[in-house]
Amino acid sequence: MEKNLAERPSVGGRPAGNASIRKPLACGLILLGAASFLSHNYVSNLVTRPWPSNAPISSEPRCPQASPLVPSRSTKELDDAWEYLNSDAFFNKSIEHLSGAVKIPTQSYDDMGEVGIDPRWDIFHSFAYYLEETFPAVYKTLEVEKVNTHGLLFTWKGTDAALKPTVLMAHQDVVPVPDSTVNQWTHPPFSGHWDGKFVWGRGSSDCKNQLLGILEAIDTLVNAGFQPKRTLVLSFGFDEEISGMQGADNLAKVLIKRYGHGGAAVIVDEGAANLEGWGANWAIPGVGEKGYVDVIVTVRMPGGHSSIPPAHNGIGVAAELVSLIEANPYEPLLHESNPYLSLLYCGAEHAPEFPKTLKHLLKKRAHRTCSKKDQKDELALEAAKAGLDIKYLFTTSQAVDLINGGVKTNALPERTTFTINHRINIGSSVDAVLFHVAQLFTPVAKKHNLTLNAFNNVTETPSSITLTTRPEHLEPAPVTPTGPGTPFSILSGTTRALYGEDLFVAPGVMTGNTDTRYYWGLSEHIFRYSMGWDREQEGLGRIHTVDERIGGKAHRDVSKWVFGFVRNMDEADL
Ligand SMILES: *[C@@H]1O[C@H](CO)[C@@H](O)[C@H](O)[C@H]1NC(C)=O
Ligand SMILES: *[C@@H]1O[C@H](CO)[C@@H](O)[C@H](O)[C@H]1NC(C)=O
Ligand SMILES: *[C@@H]1O[C@H](CO)[C@@H](O)[C@H](O)[C@H]1NC(C)=O
Ligand SMILES: [Zn+2]
Repeated sequence: MEKNLAERPSVGGRPAGNASIRKPLACGLILLGAASFLSHNYVSNLVTRPWPSNAPISSEPRCPQASPLVPSRSTKELDDAWEYLNSDAFFNKSIEHLSGAVKIPTQSYDDMGEVGIDPRWDIFHSFAYYLEETFPAVYKTLEVEKVNTHGLLFTWKGTDAALKPTVLMAHQDVVPVPDSTVNQWTHPPFSGHWDGKFVWGRGSSDCKNQLLGILEAIDTLVNAGFQPKRTLVLSFGFDEEISGMQGADNLAKVLIKRYGHGGAAVIVDEGAANLEGWGANWAIPGVGEKGYVDVIVTVRMPGGHSSIPPAHNGIGVAAELVSLIEANPYEPLLHESNPYLSLLYCGAEHAPEFPKTLKHLLKKRAHRTCSKKDQKDELALEAAKAGLDIKYLFTTSQAVDLINGGVKTNALPERTTFTINHRINIGSSVDAVLFHVAQLFTPVAKKHNLTLNAFNNVTETPSSITLTTRPEHLEPAPVTPTGPGTPFSILSGTTRALYGEDLFVAPGVMTGNTDTRYYWGLSEHIFRYSMGWDREQEGLGRIHTVDERIGGKAHRDVSKWVFGFVRNMDEADL
């Protein structure tokens, strides 16, 4: 999970993580130029959209559940391999392997330089060496490539070249442990300590567990003589926590070049863990991610001596703008394609403690024939009451996170800047956010006789308010299809076969981004899912903070899930 992304898909008011602000991503995927913003459709396209019109009235179930899916092609060796995955011997070994991986401090720092230049990357050589030592059968059977030195790309060629590959992802890097927090850990952060229940340490749940768990499963398949029909690709980046520019970006480029646009059948990366909500158990693989944009506001006003100040100076105007932003938050809005809406339908259909008010509003929505512009989304407003972590799954967030102005106590500030961070709701866009800010600031500019340069690539002029964006915008991710007969059913069936039919699978939405942001072109079937689960324990333990840990069973079950999923994908008719 990327840095500071403790935000997780969650259901029914039970936070699945702590809300916090993640660091800016940098990707250059979406190069929305000022030019496109200024084009003639600037206004027409960008007016805040009314909530989308309704889905058809229907009594069809909204959240049918896939039946448990168990691979039908088997051999004695594969059956034995499954027994092995359920044995104490495997449990112990997988703990030992994970513990060893946690001991290698593959920290990625915000100010990391280029690979090959900054020596802090060198630790990833040790990590790669460790994997090779630990999984010799995998290295012997799969083709292993290194992309940009530390990106690890494994290919297990299928016998049927017509089948699009399955892609499994995870990242090798971990969030750094600040020196100041080391002594707050119950067990040292890179000890990989096993206490009989948990493996402790940085990376134990984000996400060396997933990376090692995948390799354990493939190792077991190789040893059981499995030969895939469908090519299997493992793609492990090494800078996810600092936005994936050197790792995932390069890996994704190689894969898109090799397999073509839409060339993979499915992609599964780290993401949401199973959790409990509304009195039921849920797997909520992320099928959507919010977008992202930072708006930088610069107020330029005449300087002068502070003994003879005008009524308002640059800092005052900036303060007025900041207050305006805070006074005008975005409304919760459940776009028809927002996975959280699907999750609500699932809750209404399957969960015993699903709130009646929400159920009523869902029905009302289904019977709505048209929506009026500027009408509030009652359902979203009601659902948002469950807490901020829920509200922001379907609301564009805005937060002023940086401010800077003035140089001296006796001089009026000539240049004041601040940055507004936005996470863009599904159904909205980068353009809609920029339009919102520009529109909001127009009257203030007029009032103070300042020129408003709104995203027009103009260099700052004296007496002006200039709006620009950081280059790393990201539109909300395309939403993965979840209909019958799609890879979603394979994922669902695999999950319910492993954990039981009292676990419901529903679409989830992420407020932050994983490395998959670079893979949109490779497949529309992207899932962000943390598949290891021990229903006695919380799925994920304290990622990005002190005392990160993972339950032993939750770790073991990553391998059991992958073992089933790879074989189910192999048999799937997609
Ligand atoms: C913005 O201006 C710079 C030079 O001032 C120019 O190089 C760049 O192409 C412009 N970008 C757009 C999107 O117009
Ligand atoms: C697994 O480890 C436990 C101690 O952690 C030990 O008691 C048990 O015998 C081991 N089992 C196997 C099969 O190695
Ligand atoms: C506004 O600024 C312009 C020049 O930028 C100036 O000519 C004009 O007098 C100003 N008006 C007020 C009301 O300050
Ligand atoms: Zn992660």
